[in-house]
Formats: sequence, structure tokens, C-alpha cells
Amino acid sequence: MLSVIGTGYLGATHAACMAELGFDVIGIDTDATKITLLSQGELPFYEPGLDDLLRKHVATGKLRFSTDFSDLAQADVHFICVGTPQRKDGNAADLTYVNAALEGTAAHAKPGSLIVGKSTVPVGTADALTARLAEINPHVELAWNPEFLREGFAVEDTLRPNRLVVGVQSARAEEQLRDVYVALLKDGVPWISADLRTAELVKVAANSFLATKISFINAMAEICDAAGGDVTVLAKAIGYDPRIGNRFLQAGIGFGGGCLPKDIRAFMARAEELGADQALEFLRDIDSINLRARARIIDVAAEYGDLKGEKVFILGAAFKPDSDDVRDSPALDIAYGISQRGARVVVNDPKAMEPAAKRFPHLEFTDDLLAGAQDAHLILHLTEWKEYRALNPADFAKVVANRVIIDGRNALDGDAWRDAGFIYRAPGRPTLTPKK
Ligand code: UDX
Repeated sequence: MLSVIGTGYLGATHAACMAELGFDVIGIDTDATKITLLSQGELPFYEPGLDDLLRKHVATGKLRFSTDFSDLAQADVHFICVGTPQRKDGNAADLTYVNAALEGTAAHAKPGSLIVGKSTVPVGTADALTARLAEINPHVELAWNPEFLREGFAVEDTLRPNRLVVGVQSARAEEQLRDVYVALLKDGVPWISADLRTAELVKVAANSFLATKISFINAMAEICDAAGGDVTVLAKAIGYDPRIGNRFLQAGIGFGGGCLPKDIRAFMARAEELGADQALEFLRDIDSINLRARARIIDVAAEYGDLKGEKVFILGAAFKPDSDDVRDSPALDIAYGISQRGARVVVNDPKAMEPAAKRFPHLEFTDDLLAGAQDAHLILHLTEWKEYRALNPADFAKVVANRVIIDGRNALDGDAWRDAGFIYRAPGRPTLTPKK
């Protein structure tokens, strides 16, 4: 039997996937509303494929949920999956939930069981937790097993990860983790065993590298804009070099979401504490290039006339397509920035309008794309949902006040919009203007 502490995005996915691998799983969370929903087989967020898995295993009783830590007493391995948000007073990670999860688990874990941290934490956290665990329950060991799942692909990434990384303090702990993942190991998933500190660092290093690729290409977009090049062609050309690779080189309004921005900032805070000044400077640049990509789009929008009093229609609110997550969403940040310039902002998103409206109640939201575009001064495409690529530009040409579209994701067919009479603008690319 396994337990999963924290049933948010990571925990709910991990719990359902471990049940799919054949384990009896108990999910623990202090949020009673969440536990009631999950116990009924209902997911409190949108994630393709996860709802089916949850329903299936709740129905058979393999997967249960509780608010009571004592229900994990029979589990052999406990996975801590709670959040580590950015602290309100700076960049560092808030470890309140991780510390509480360790305390609660350690109080009830049976001798010989293993506690495994999956949350993203600053390097050194597992050492501190190990010391605390020795005080509360010396017959239980701690390991770390970072998670690399992407929203929208959470089930796939958990059941078919491209590697498993474990930070362990004994051969026994490694064996216990191998037993959990035996089915994945049979499928040939690479297994990397490390010390606790390296395992913690792997996660933040991986996220920082991904962030670096995005900020790199956005810096190239800035140069392309200044010099008159095309960043999409440049990305394609450099991406053929297998040492560079073509993934994560999509230039645009940059990265957002619940992980990359906060993880890179927490890594900056930790680098500073450790006196790793060069790493700190490097990470700071990645973060500021990212934020600059958002600001630049607002400036581009303002090039088409004063925004004050004008209607601006925004396609996209989620931080990326196939997600209803609006945490640190570049799209919403830009929507807010444009509204701050006095524009009347109307937003559409296939899945994320409800959470977006909660965060920014003063923005308008619509399901009706043509009504949103009616009399619009500008259209901004900020989250690359496939629905938006399927739009017919000619329909929009008939209703807008100005035929200008800014494609913040470099994802639309610029020629099609130009052929419908629009000016098509995208970061790092020459502007397309309608043929006379
Ligand atoms: C990320 C990591 O990919 C995952 O391994 C980690 O476990 C959690 O953080 P996720 O937050 O789901 O996953 O999003 P991801 O698909 O990585 O995209 C992050 C952001 O980068 C999105 O806002 C996306 O739009 C943006 N992005 C991505 C780009 O701007 N350009 C790209 O080329 C790729």
C-alpha cells in the first residue's frame, strides 16, 4: 500500500497513476472540499485522461482519500506531493506545507516504511527534513524522487517518464523505490540513483534549462526584430543540430504556469544563500528576459495607436494550451497590462475563463469569438489553442474595427490572416501587411 500526501495537481496524478500500476493508494489532504470531490471520483482541475483514471480506481476502491493522517499508517511508501509556492516576502520557496506534511506523515508512518519527497524544494531541504524525521520517527527513512510531469501530459509523463531519479540514503530505500516502479523499469525507463542533494537539484536544473531555452529564443526574437530577421526560421535551422534540438524554441510571450517561473526564482534565492553569484546572475537574466517578452507585446500593441478607451480582444488566458491553469499566465498578465493602459479588454479561452475571471474580475470574458472581435481595435493571440489555428480570418475581417492581429505565440498562419486583410505581427518576425 502507498500513501500520497497532498492531492493537488502532482498528488492527484501520482495517486491515480500508482493505483493504475496496481497499488492500493490512500491520498491525504487537509483540504476537506478537495477530498470530498476526489472521493466521489471528481477532479478539481482539468487534466486530459486523469479524470477517467481517478473514476476507475475510486470505483474499485483501490484509490481512497482522507483528511486524516492516521489513515496512512499501513502504507509501505509515502509520497509527499504538496505545493511549494513562492513566498509572499520574496523569491524563496515557502516550505510550510512540506514541513507540515513531513510532521503529519512521520507521526503515523509504520517502522520500516519510506517517506519520499516529490515536491520541488530548494537544495538542502531533504537534509533538514531527515534531521527532523530522526527526532519524530527514527525507524522511518527519507528519500527524494523529483517529478517532471507537464500539465496536459501528466498521466503520460507519470506512467511513461523519460527517466526516474531517486535521491536515497541507503540501498534498502533504493530497493523500496525500485519495487514501486518495477513496471516502469521493465519498460526500460532509465533509473538514476543519486544523493539527496543531487536529486533535489536535478529538478530545478531541468526546469531552469527549459526556461533558458525559451528565454534564449526570446532574446533572439528581440535581435530578429531589431535586425529584420525571422526567429521561427532561425529556431528551425538551429534546431536541426541534435546538440541544440528543436523543442522549447518557440519564441513568443515566454513561459508561465505554476512551475517554471516560481522554480527559477526559488533557485535564484537558494543560489544567493549559497553564495553562487554567477548562477544567480544567470538565472536572473533568464527571468528578466521572460518578463520582458510580456512587456514587449504590450508595447507592440501600443504601436497601433493609443489603447485608451479601445476594445482589445484577447485569444487565450491559460498559461499554455490544453490547460485551465492561469497561474502566472503570460496571456493574463498581458491582458491586465493592456487594461492598465485604459483599454476595454475582452478575453476568450476554451477552458480557463472561469479561473481567469476569478483572478481578474474587471476583465470581460466571452464564449462568442465573433462578438469578442466585434469593433475590436486589435486582436491578440496569446495562448496557442488548436481552436484558434482553425479560425477563419475572413469572418473576423468583417467585424473588427481595425484589421490588426498580434500573434504572441508565433502559432497562427500569418499568410492566411494577411490574405484576409489583416496586418499580422508576431515577436521576432517581419510584419506581414495586406497586399494592395
Ligand atoms: C514544466 C516542465 O516542462 C515540467 O517538466 C515540470 O515538471 C513542470 O514545469 P508545465 O508547467 O506543465 O511543465 O509547462 P511547459 O509545457 O513546460 O510550458 C511552460 C511554459 O513555457 C508555458 O507557458 C509555455 O507556453 C512556455 N513555452 C514552452 C514557450 O514559451 N516556448 C516553448 O518553446 C515552450
